[in-house]
Amino acid sequence: MNSPVRAFEPNPFFVREAKGARIYDVDGREYVDYVMGYGPLLFGHANERIISRVKEAIERGTLYGAPTEAEVELAKRIKRFYPSIEMVRLVNSGTEATMHAIRLARGFTGRKKIIKFEGCFHGSHDSVLVKAGSGALTFGVPSSSGVLEDAAKHTLVSRYNDINMTEEIARKNRDDLAAIIVEPVMANSGLIPPDMEFLRGLRGIADELGCVLIFDEVVTGFRLAPGGAQEYYGIRADLTTLGKVLGGGFPIAAFGGREEIMRNISPSGKVYQAGTFSGNPVSVAAALAVTEMINNEVYLRLREYGRKLVSAIKEIIEDRNLIATVNHVESMFQIFFAERVGTYEEALSSDRERFANYFRRMLEKGVFVPPSQFETCFISTAHSDEEMRITIEAVDDALKAAR
Ligand SMILES: Cc1ncc(COP(=O)(O)O)c(C=O)c1O
Repeated sequence: MNSPVRAFEPNPFFVREAKGARIYDVDGREYVDYVMGYGPLLFGHANERIISRVKEAIERGTLYGAPTEAEVELAKRIKRFYPSIEMVRLVNSGTEATMHAIRLARGFTGRKKIIKFEGCFHGSHDSVLVKAGSGALTFGVPSSSGVLEDAAKHTLVSRYNDINMTEEIARKNRDDLAAIIVEPVMANSGLIPPDMEFLRGLRGIADELGCVLIFDEVVTGFRLAPGGAQEYYGIRADLTTLGKVLGGGFPIAAFGGREEIMRNISPSGKVYQAGTFSGNPVSVAAALAVTEMINNEVYLRLREYGRKLVSAIKEIIEDRNLIATVNHVESMFQIFFAERVGTYEEALSSDRERFANYFRRMLEKGVFVPPSQFETCFISTAHSDEEMRITIEAVDDALKAAR
């Protein structure tokens, strides 16, 4: 495996190719895909517009080590979609984006500590690999070995959706709190939607204490709405990280925000950040194609598919009287084998053995959902009525198998 979340027992299938909402393995099996590259493929696999723009770009060279007009155009588009982003820097992965956003927040405020939330995942760098979600949770490494205590001690951990606890931690550390980093929808411990009071409360704390509010929109950016969770929930972050959907399957990510903060990045400021491949013309071409396809219609379509599918799953659960629940936000959903899951603790206490049975059965029925309970299913615009039919049939069967 080149990323641990791809591993499952007895062994994962190996991919031959993928198109639209389907993925094909080397043994000739076909699956309806809800992993969708763990989120980036809002427009499905091998989207023609993205492929064609990428082909054109490759012909003109793959890396220049000098800026291009296309990067500036992409930055302008990101700013248009995200009004809180006044300046933006392109990087290659979500991990880089959050790592540099945190360094920038520290450089800007001159403070050391950050608050993160248990179960949130912000990539695999030291200061956020503390009580992290996704693979770090699945594989039981809540604080990775190799992360120095000296690095982790500046990361304070609070409870997601618990604004009182967060206020208390923040105020206790008011003089040394550089940033609060949060997934506006927690998508790395299964799927846990935010309470509005919680998100608004974080904005309030950041304003009160002069620390930087970082919305990690690597998953939610361009997924919940054209302007991500900030548009969807009507809350403005100081810094935002984007990745996944932005590149439509190519490695590109970004961090950006208030100009006053962003000006501190090198070369105009003293916070160092650099990358050989940053803003590379092939990924930028893919991102330009993605941003051209973003419009309200896309989100209406995704919403409709999500609502129909999730209400069908809920009906199956009710009809069969199963102890199971579905969490759902627009084009993201996840099934848990528990009465309800509104918190990270509840996600942890759901029945993972039943989830593993459900996963295996779904795969046998030709539907690929993330193998881990602590990931999220993603719908793309390539999912149509036929995929819906196959999925509902598979869920019906798999929920029986998971009893
Ligand atoms: C919310 C969030 N932030 C950051 C990351 C890290 O992104 P990447 O895997 O591109 O480094 C992820 C990855 O899943 C994520 O879900």
